[in-house]
Amino acid sequence: MAQTQRKILVTSALPYANGPIHLGHMLEHIQTDIWVRFQKLRGHVCNAVCADDAHGTAIMIRAEQNGITPEELIDGVRAEHMKDFNDFLIGYDNYHSTHSSENQELSSSIYQALRDNGKISVRSITQAYDPEKGMFLADRFVKGTCPKCKAEDQYGDNCEVCSATYTPMEMINPRSVYSGATPIEKSSDHYFFKLPEFQEFLQKWTRSGTLQTQVANKLSEWLDSGLQEWDISRDAPYFGFEIPDAPGKYFYVWLDAPIGYMASFKHLCDRTEGLNFDDYWAKDADSELYHFIGKDIVNFHALFWPAMLDCAGYRTPTGVNVHGYVTVNGTKMSKSRGTFIMARTYLNHLDPQYLRYYYAAKLNSSVDDIDLNLEDFVQRVNSDVVGKVVNIASRTASFINKKFDSQLATDVAENDMIQDFINAGDTIAEFYETREYGKAIRETMRLADIANTYIADQAPWVLAKSEDTLPKVQEVCSVSLNLFAILATYLKPVLPTLITDAEAFLGKELTWDNRSELLFGRTINKFKPLMARIESKQIEAMIEDSKEAAAAEAALKEAHQPKQEETELSKDPIAEEINFDDFAKVDLRIALIAKAEHVEKANKLLKLTLDLGGETRTVFSGIKSAYKPEDLEGKLTVMVANLAPRKMKFGLSEGMVLAAGPGGEDIYLLEPHDGAKPGQRVM
Ligand code: MSP
Ligand code: ZN
Repeated sequence: MAQTQRKILVTSALPYANGPIHLGHMLEHIQTDIWVRFQKLRGHVCNAVCADDAHGTAIMIRAEQNGITPEELIDGVRAEHMKDFNDFLIGYDNYHSTHSSENQELSSSIYQALRDNGKISVRSITQAYDPEKGMFLADRFVKGTCPKCKAEDQYGDNCEVCSATYTPMEMINPRSVYSGATPIEKSSDHYFFKLPEFQEFLQKWTRSGTLQTQVANKLSEWLDSGLQEWDISRDAPYFGFEIPDAPGKYFYVWLDAPIGYMASFKHLCDRTEGLNFDDYWAKDADSELYHFIGKDIVNFHALFWPAMLDCAGYRTPTGVNVHGYVTVNGTKMSKSRGTFIMARTYLNHLDPQYLRYYYAAKLNSSVDDIDLNLEDFVQRVNSDVVGKVVNIASRTASFINKKFDSQLATDVAENDMIQDFINAGDTIAEFYETREYGKAIRETMRLADIANTYIADQAPWVLAKSEDTLPKVQEVCSVSLNLFAILATYLKPVLPTLITDAEAFLGKELTWDNRSELLFGRTINKFKPLMARIESKQIEAMIEDSKEAAAAEAALKEAHQPKQEETELSKDPIAEEINFDDFAKVDLRIALIAKAEHVEKANKLLKLTLDLGGETRTVFSGIKSAYKPEDLEGKLTVMVANLAPRKMKFGLSEGMVLAAGPGGEDIYLLEPHDGAKPGQRVM
């Protein structure tokens, strides 16, 4: 061991249990996994835990839509998530669920500690409420028209068109995304965590080296503008844990989610000899605790979480490591472009190690976004991993296998190059430790270039042509394979399968510390190709699949959307504006239906004789499906009296009576209130 053995607990953010893992999530799990594998490779005790984040309204609703219980939903999704991570070679020591007994116990006890320390307050708040579903609606579950710019279909907190902010009830025509019902306002008691009382503690904690400077600066802005109490309760119906002393009230999903880190670890401790929960979570624990998270959830991890932990008598994180977002080909992942790629879709086409390598090559310790440029991805993986690293072994191994009975050279003089490769490990280790994976990869590739240049210069394929230089062939190839073994060690956190295969070929288990134990004089195994190149057509097929999956998902979602209430106006919107003079041209008159008759051979028409109090008019009207002639005679109605007469098959129609309705039996003739007289103008 180069250093004393550290005890480390590492977590990734807990993915929501209502949807599949995508390549955005994978950035985080790959970043975490590389760090964890690196620590283990260095001989430290490092435990990595994760879990599904299984609570909340979204999950409850999704289960309902799928016609299953929330438990069934989260069990199914968790199994899929675990398979995705496993197939991406992410080696969590435990992958639990926040819907677990460990989490319920820990959440309740932490809540009770906060309450006993006087950090919980209760007060009534007013919220939008879906009277049809019988549930409160978070702002994003209300949609409607922006009160400011009138943009339709906006969320209940702000307008994406004009950026106005408002409450759901201030919107025009607000509606619940679940039922389509118009929300009402309703008040209920909520439980709050008194975050402002931790202002001073957090001011210190966020500046104590636990956070990247970029993150600490952002938090300073929030801290300076003053903290708000945090609403930690939700009313039934809610899928979560009931608050111990508050029947019908549930912990907000974000209260028990980070406690899920502890719960997953607890679950691991309960099954692992010698692993002790308190060693990692007690206030005075001498172990290290790191959370890897995305930049969107910093406030939960760097404000609420340390405050809760400290108040409840637990240690706080050693570090919260924040990464940026994945973009694909320079823009936000897009379902229609097929760049919103699910982990499973990727795995159906490509080796997970390609992506592990590419993300590693691009990752650093900053919060900047990471672009997955698919052309660059193909080019980079092919040229670095296949073209540079694997190439060292594939160009030299066959000589050892064939010409020297797989025996590596024994007497090789002191070699500066090998020594340089070994020494570089200290720098590379520092890069991994500080999450500067890109630099670790660059340094490793710089060495790979040196190795390849050495092989090209020595040209063992030329030396092999003469018996005299055969010993030199063995020496050059043996040196090369030692260089390969050292580089393989450095890449082991990133490319676990490839390096396991390399270890089998070299006959050595590689660790960081044994990289200086060279392989001269040993026998190697037969070399087999370690990694194939990526073909562009694999990428194209993956994009096609992603497009199809997104389209199928959109269709499913559409089917679950509450049909927006159809109104008469939505079916037939109001016509273009006219001025008064336009209207006044239409001469509407009260008419007495003097006579109503069937028209021979006409199946829709009735013949009406209309008395305008002096003149009569004959009008053919398509109302036969709704009225019997005898029901109409003697009634008043309204007609357009100055409409140009129209010649019809059955005679001349001299105007038109006014009626509403779509047709068929649904036709409703206008009838004036009592007192109107035939011939009177209607204005
Ligand atoms: N359930 C919460 C986390 C609770 S942790 C106690 C959550 N889940 S999530 O599924 O939405 O996101 C999980 C993690 O994936 C977060 O760290 C988030 O930042 C990360 N990412 C989600 N989409 C991402 C990208 N497109 N790119 C990079 N990371 C992304 O938040
Ligand atoms: Zn607007």
